[in-house]
Order: sequence, then structure tokens, then C-alpha cells
Amino acid sequence: RRLLGTASAAGAAGLVAGGAAGAFGDRALRERPTALTTVGSAALPFHGSHQAGIADPAQAHGHLLAFDLAPGAGRKAAAALLRRWSATAAALTAGQVPDGDSTGIALDAGPSSLTVTFGFGRSFFDRTGLTARRPAALEPLPAFTQDALDPKRSDGDLWVQIGADDALVAFHALRLLQRQAQDTARLRWQMNGFNRTPGATDRPRTARNLMGQVDGTNNPKPTDSDFAAKVFVPGDHGGADGWMAGGSYAVVRRIRMLLDSWEQLSLARQERVIGRRKSDGAPLSGGTETTPVDLAKTLPDGSLAIAGDAHIRVAAPASNQGAAMLRRAFSYHDGFLDDGAPDAGLLFIAWQADPMKGFVPVQRKLDRGDGLSRFLRHEASGLFAVPGGCAEGEYVGQRLLE
Ligand code: HEM
Repeated sequence: RRLLGTASAAGAAGLVAGGAAGAFGDRALRERPTALTTVGSAALPFHGSHQAGIADPAQAHGHLLAFDLAPGAGRKAAAALLRRWSATAAALTAGQVPDGDSTGIALDAGPSSLTVTFGFGRSFFDRTGLTARRPAALEPLPAFTQDALDPKRSDGDLWVQIGADDALVAFHALRLLQRQAQDTARLRWQMNGFNRTPGATDRPRTARNLMGQVDGTNNPKPTDSDFAAKVFVPGDHGGADGWMAGGSYAVVRRIRMLLDSWEQLSLARQERVIGRRKSDGAPLSGGTETTPVDLAKTLPDGSLAIAGDAHIRVAAPASNQGAAMLRRAFSYHDGFLDDGAPDAGLLFIAWQADPMKGFVPVQRKLDRGDGLSRFLRHEASGLFAVPGGCAEGEYVGQRLLE
């Protein structure tokens, strides 16, 4: 879905020049004499059967925002907001300056793989009189024994995920959406995350997290024949929540890493905790990063090559009746806590067609004792129904809200 090269750079500039040029249209064009880099010119379409920002690679910069509807704002106001938000997201992701935008924040930059993804929390349906159409899959997540959740940074009526390979492009989207919420919805919480910048490595590689591990290897791949079945609600889904056809459920967990304790472990212990080599992500059962994991393999002394409590054993679909999810995370670092420990970790986002066949059973098992959980704190949580994508001229959530 990526458009690379000068052709799309010219396309992005052309869009600025034509029609919805906004306050800076002409200047933006004049000041862009050379082609954008491939990072800047890459564009991911906003419209489609699924929303963008799910199956696309996670970008270098991410913002997660949750809003609560303002008192008195009901279904009509929410519909108008989703219409405004969708129009803005469609313009920005195509590299256009939206009408009336004079902020100038992302001038000179191309769309930079911007995606904006919208979802609804459980409380949204009561506030808008739509309880009868709330999906059963939005049942609250169960409590896990190791949870240390902050309610102020959890849940919310509306959820927005913004990702872009440029920090200013990402902030620009955040700022415009926040302003457009105006009297309709108030920001409940915001989290900012990051991943490696495209081009920082010799070739595209699986991301690393702040524990240094190669993270994302055994994710379902968009090219897998069962990818859509795992990640998206079927396109012919009917009933009271038929509006979720083509959608997905996002489980969001802010997971702090106890890096001071983690980094005291030897490399060999760290690798046993995960079940993969740190240097290249290869499973401890042998091979390279992409070699299938052999959970049955034993070492000459009879012990399991991948330990009984290794994260990849406990989390694997084979250990959880096939439960699977797409993990698409951002790292975060928000400075330091009172005790000097880094306030850093993973903005873990799991995408699945049904949380009861994805995140919930796997986290139940991890919570009961995988080797990694001792080095983690789940500090915030949310579950959001992310509707399917919309066609041009429509807005996200229209099938629910119109
Ligand atoms: C695999 C790290 C939390 C589910 C992995 C891998 C790493 C990792 C390094 C191996 C590479 C890969 O296949 O991606 C982490 C870290 C976490 C975390 C640092 C928290 C900060 C979670 C949570 C869940 C989860 C909360 C789900 C409830 C999985 C799954 C796999 C995996 C399903 C693939 C297992 C397989 O089939 O091989 N994780 N993880 N992880 N993780 Fe996590």
C-alpha cells in the first residue's frame, strides 16, 4: 500500500496546489523544489475496507488519545465529530493541508505514512443511546493478578491512534483532531510512543523494544491465508453489531518495563526468559529469526531448549488453543519516576477479530507466570471496537451513527 518515489511526491505537492490548498498551499508548493525522500512521500490511503494503521507497519512516531464525550453530547454530536475527524484524516494522509488549517506545523513534509485510526470504548454506547448495538466483544477485560492499572489513563469513550514516520506530521494530526473535538469530546488521556526510524538500519528489520529484544517476529503476516480471519471481523458480519464488519478489536496496554532489574540479568538469562536470542531474534530451538519455533526440542541434558516459562512458549497459539493476535506496538519513555527508575516500556496494542480468542486467554496464561511478567507492570488498559474503513465521502463509524 506504500507509494514510494518521486511520482507520489509530485502527487502530494499537486494535492496541496489544487482545491483544498488551505492558507499555505502556494507557499508550500514554492518551497518544495526538490522531491521528498521516500520516507516523506510514502502515503497510506485513509479509505478502504479496513482502517489504516492496523495491518501497516508501525511508524516511527505514535500518539494514542482517548476522549470522553462532553456532558450533553450524544449520538448526533458524535456523528458530526467522526465526520469532521474522518475528513481531516483523509486530507492529512494524502498530504493535503485541510481547509482552514493555518497551524503550519507540518508544512514542507509529505504524508510520511501517516495513519489515523478511530475506535469506540464500551462507555460510548451508553452515552449515545446505542447500548443495544454494543458488540458482545466489548465486555470489560477481566482483571489480571499482576495489573496495577490507573483508571485515569485507561478506557474512554473514543480512541484515536495516530502513527507517522515524521514527528511533526504526527503532532499536526493530533493537534487538529484535538481542536476539532472542541465542545463535543474532552481528552481523557494521551500516550506518546516511538519505533525505529525507517532507514536507520541496513535493511528493513523487525523492530526492537526497550529491553533490546527483536519484537514482532511471530506476528501473523498480512500475506498469511488466515490473517484476515485472525485480525478482522468478517465482512459479512450481521446482527446488532453488523456495523463492525471489516473492523477489529484493539487491546491497548501501557506496560512499564522494570529495566533496572531486567538489565541485571545476564544475557543468557534474558534469552531464556523470552526463548529467543537477543542478537538476531533466533529461537533457542535453533535456526534464524524466521525459523519456526520447536517447542518440543530438548538439549543433550534433557532440558527444554525453550524453557517451560519462556515468554514465547506461554504466549504461543499452540499453548492457547490457537489464540492469536497482531501485536503492533510503540515504545514509550516519559522520563523518570520518583525512585529514579525510567518510566519506559511498551504501548502494547493487540489487534484481533475477537479479544476472547486473542488477548484475553493469552494474557490469562502470561499472568499466571511467564518468565517475563516479573519484569513488567501493566499500568493502563483499554479495549476498543475499531469499525471497518470507510469509502470516499463517508466517515468512520457511519454505519453505527447515521
Ligand atoms: C512474542 C516481548 C507482552 C504476546 C514476543 C517476543 C518478544 C516479546 C521479544 C518474541 C518475538 C516475537 O515473536 O515477536 C514482549 C514484551 C512485552 C510483551 C517486551 C511487554 C512489555 C506481551 C503480551 C502479550 C504478548 C501482553 C499478549 C497478551 C506475545 C505473542 C508472541 C510474543 C502471542 C508470539 C509467540 C509465538 O507464537 O512465538 N513478545 N511481549 N506479549 N508475545 Fe510478547
